[in-house]
Amino acid sequence: MTKVTVLGTGYLGATHAACMAELGHEVLGVDVDAGKIAKLQDGQVPFFEPELEEVLRRNIEAGRLRFSTSYREAAAWGTAHFLCVGTPQKRGEYAADLRYVESVIDELAPHITGPAVIYGKSTVPVGTAARLGDRARALSPAGEQLEVAWNPEFLREGFAIGDTLRPDRLVIGIDPVRPGRAEQLAREIYATALAAETPFLVTDLATAELVKVAANSFLATKISFINAMAELCEAADADVTVLADAIGYDARIGRRFLNAGLGFGGGCLPKDIRAFMARAGELHAHQALTFLREVDNVNMRRRTRMVELTREVFDGSLIGARLAVLGAAFKPDSDDVRDSPALNVAGQLQLQGASVTVYDPHAMDNARALFPTLDYATSVAEACKGADAVLVLTEWQQFRELDPADLTGLVRGNRVLDGRNCLDPQLWSAAGWTYRGLGRH
Ligand code: UGA
Repeated sequence: MTKVTVLGTGYLGATHAACMAELGHEVLGVDVDAGKIAKLQDGQVPFFEPELEEVLRRNIEAGRLRFSTSYREAAAWGTAHFLCVGTPQKRGEYAADLRYVESVIDELAPHITGPAVIYGKSTVPVGTAARLGDRARALSPAGEQLEVAWNPEFLREGFAIGDTLRPDRLVIGIDPVRPGRAEQLAREIYATALAAETPFLVTDLATAELVKVAANSFLATKISFINAMAELCEAADADVTVLADAIGYDARIGRRFLNAGLGFGGGCLPKDIRAFMARAGELHAHQALTFLREVDNVNMRRRTRMVELTREVFDGSLIGARLAVLGAAFKPDSDDVRDSPALNVAGQLQLQGASVTVYDPHAMDNARALFPTLDYATSVAEACKGADAVLVLTEWQQFRELDPADLTGLVRGNRVLDGRNCLDPQLWSAAGWTYRGLGRH
């Protein structure tokens, strides 16, 4: 088994650390946030991710996983270091902010004295890995014995444990001018997945970096494609959910990621397509990605459309309307509200004069911190009490399974707006409700 460190313990890092330990490795997780490290060491996950807490606790108890704030300790601990810090969008620009990635290199490299590999997992602009390698070697007493490789991460929030333990592919970008131990060490670390015949692609650094942003751009494009079709369905009085089913049977198209609705949000797809466009511009290849601007536009238009649809239901004015918003997280099974379409719409509805009460099974604290002026309820029933309309904006299982009978009598107006096309229109209409969905008549 290998001694590994995980640098940065956010969504990606905490999951990676726990899963590496689950695979039997001895893991040290490092973060500059002492509060977060204390919580993790105590077996508490600072965010919601199904199964993560059990895996974390099991491995801390087994002595395979611990946490620290010390980079000196990280350098001394092992020879494989996974870089898992965030690369958010720069304020007021499309480009990615690389300050956290660079600071890990600057803090860690000076303490590394012998052969070691830093595997970058963060999503970065193509060309970053080669630059970080030069930077690390210049700072480290190990010099040429320090390698930087790139091992992009494809996990989805809500499925993070399964995606990490059983990935659908592994990609390792290796510095072509100094191919040292990075590939061999990665094969040892990922031995379990390799034994299960997981595809293992060894590439150059630039290709590995691009694989990640290309994958996220494709997913974003797929979602915006179906949302563009939803716009047409609205104009032509057709039903986008049936259209998605029908085209999805073609195996070349596939039904997954063809759910029309409020569109994509979160900490990855929106900022990744923007950073990709910014990087393409720097490489004088901006034309290749101009379509991503349209992908972004279609996506943002869905939020506006949801607000319009609500206004239509109220005959043109939201002033005085009482709205129950079900869902605040950017998607179900997550408490992440970064660039959440649901909260964004809730905020816009309030700006137009509605009084908005939000309920989410797990994202309440994060939502309150980001949008403190909205009202929050502690249950579906409390949110819906006295409401003139119910808006389902994140498709949590609990909301998909709602029975109109549970709400009838509680609400003031029987109107339901389905921002995720996750309810059965017939069921709600039959119960006497006005049902409206995005891209549906
Ligand atoms: C995304 C990718 O799916 C992961 O493969 C990648 O590793 C990750 O970004 C990352 O870069 O770290 P994630 O942000 O967790 O994962 O969420 P997704 O499941 O991709 O959903 C993104 C958004 O698209 C959500 O707001 C979701 O509601 C929306 N979506 C998804 C749709 O509107 N329609 C769909 O059919 C699917």
